[in-house]
Amino acid sequence: MPPPGRALLWLGLVLGSFCASLGSAALGNDAKDALNVLLIIVDDLRLSLGCYGDKLIKSPNIDQLASHSLLFQNAFAQQAVCAPSRVSFLTGRRPDTTRLYDFNSYWRVQAGNFSTIPQYFKENGYVTMSVGKVFHPGISSNHSDDSPYSWSIPPYHPSSEKYENTKTCRGPDGELHANLICPVDMADIPEGTLPDKQSTKQAIQLLEKMKTSASPFFLAIGYHKPHIPFRYPKRKIRQSYFASVSYLDTQVGHLLSALDDLQLANNTIVAFTSDHGWALGEHGEWAKYSNFDVTTRVPLMFYVPGRTALLPEAGEKLFPYIDPFDSISELMKPGRQVMDLVELVSLFPTLAGLAGLHVPPRCPVPSFHVELCREGQSLLEHFRFHDLEQDPTLHGNPHESIAYSQYPRPADSPQWNSDKPSLKDIKVMGYSIRTIDYRFTVWVGFNPHDFLANFSDVHAGELYFVDSDPLQDHNMYNDSQGGDLPQSLIP
Ligand SMILES: *[C@@H]1O[C@H](CO)[C@@H](O)[C@H](O)[C@H]1NC(C)=O
Ligand SMILES: *[C@@H]1O[C@H](CO)[C@@H](O)[C@H](O)[C@H]1NC(C)=O
Ligand SMILES: *[C@@H]1O[C@H](CO)[C@@H](O)[C@H](O)[C@H]1NC(C)=O
Repeated sequence: MPPPGRALLWLGLVLGSFCASLGSAALGNDAKDALNVLLIIVDDLRLSLGCYGDKLIKSPNIDQLASHSLLFQNAFAQQAVCAPSRVSFLTGRRPDTTRLYDFNSYWRVQAGNFSTIPQYFKENGYVTMSVGKVFHPGISSNHSDDSPYSWSIPPYHPSSEKYENTKTCRGPDGELHANLICPVDMADIPEGTLPDKQSTKQAIQLLEKMKTSASPFFLAIGYHKPHIPFRYPKRKIRQSYFASVSYLDTQVGHLLSALDDLQLANNTIVAFTSDHGWALGEHGEWAKYSNFDVTTRVPLMFYVPGRTALLPEAGEKLFPYIDPFDSISELMKPGRQVMDLVELVSLFPTLAGLAGLHVPPRCPVPSFHVELCREGQSLLEHFRFHDLEQDPTLHGNPHESIAYSQYPRPADSPQWNSDKPSLKDIKVMGYSIRTIDYRFTVWVGFNPHDFLANFSDVHAGELYFVDSDPLQDHNMYNDSQGGDLPQSLIP
């Protein structure tokens, strides 16, 4: 516990800087004092983390980050598949605005010339850098991770990524196999390394370079794990997923400990999230591709120096590396938490506001012609707490808030392309709202040529109550006669 004097000083600093950054639209960003941003994006990470109450998982480094962060318990992705989710939160627009529900178009051509989070920071004097999988590769980012618009230097991709599907895993027969889920022996791997290890190394090198830079930096790092490419029997896949999370945790641990060593933890915001969740057998599914909580819910936390935690003093380490497999890695005391429902589209305005940049204005409807605006709420109000030592669990009742997600289907019944329909094959769109009490999904007719949903053409509905049915196994839609759609679902 810090002495009261320090807490008071902190309070003054926080209130002062808060008014400054929240208050004025005109606030410029003084390069000298500007906060850096480290954005960590994980692939397919559900809430299988110690800091989200999972007792099985070993994730001490991420838990340590959480202990210094503001953590959102109820954050939801807008579509549970990589490219649409990433394009959505990186532009701050929903899939219906980016018009990307599959992997096959570039929003600047298909929808509108929307600014991205890194582009906005770049235009505001930041050096912006991409390491690993930040944008989804391919057409959806114009085969260039949206360069040159988003990034100051060419995005980095780990060279060992190309071995993702080569035979690197030794089976019981002693031979190497492709895509088996089992621990790899580093000696069997081409280049003797793995993509996420390379990305961590690259990110640390960039941090070292930026330490002496006159400009603030925005560094986004996208980890590939725990993404799993194929489907496997239950026990093994769960075990392998959890092991992948611990491996990811070690990479986050090394990265954050480097931030400490470089004395950047006192002026760098760390945001941590994932593009969507992942089903490990729930509803008979081993994937994302749905509107259920297990696939739409994502971890989301922000460490803001001097705001979510006291500024580290010279030499003090906030993020010492912790070995997940140390027998007694103590469970970290969680930091402050928010129960309100929030959405990943809020990342753009929130990061901008936390860094002291002007928060982009709300989007008009429609907003295809507007390059810079936000569809998500700014979450800044949640950072406006007065006393860091106040019990973080006493945070009052959640506000009435709603998170929207959606998922497209080619037909009412499962078929070969139900998981990932191409735009031209989409016939039904499942629009889903999650409130603190329930999840309600309605599947309606959708026309992929004019992007219009027909809310009078209801194909099916789902209604799950969070308290009595947290895993969403009992659909109450028909019991509730279904007919009347909540007003909030109708765009
Ligand atoms: C799209 O936005 C970028 C970045 O502001 C700009 O350089 C480019 O000219 C714009 N393209 C069009 C077609 O407006
Ligand atoms: C996409 O990339 C191509 C090839 O580099 C480039 O010619 C084109 O202008 C890019 N599209 C946009 C909208 O910037
Ligand atoms: C951060 O720490 C370094 C090293 O202790 C110090 O030189 C610098 O002034 C500090 N920056 C802030 C914003 O406190």
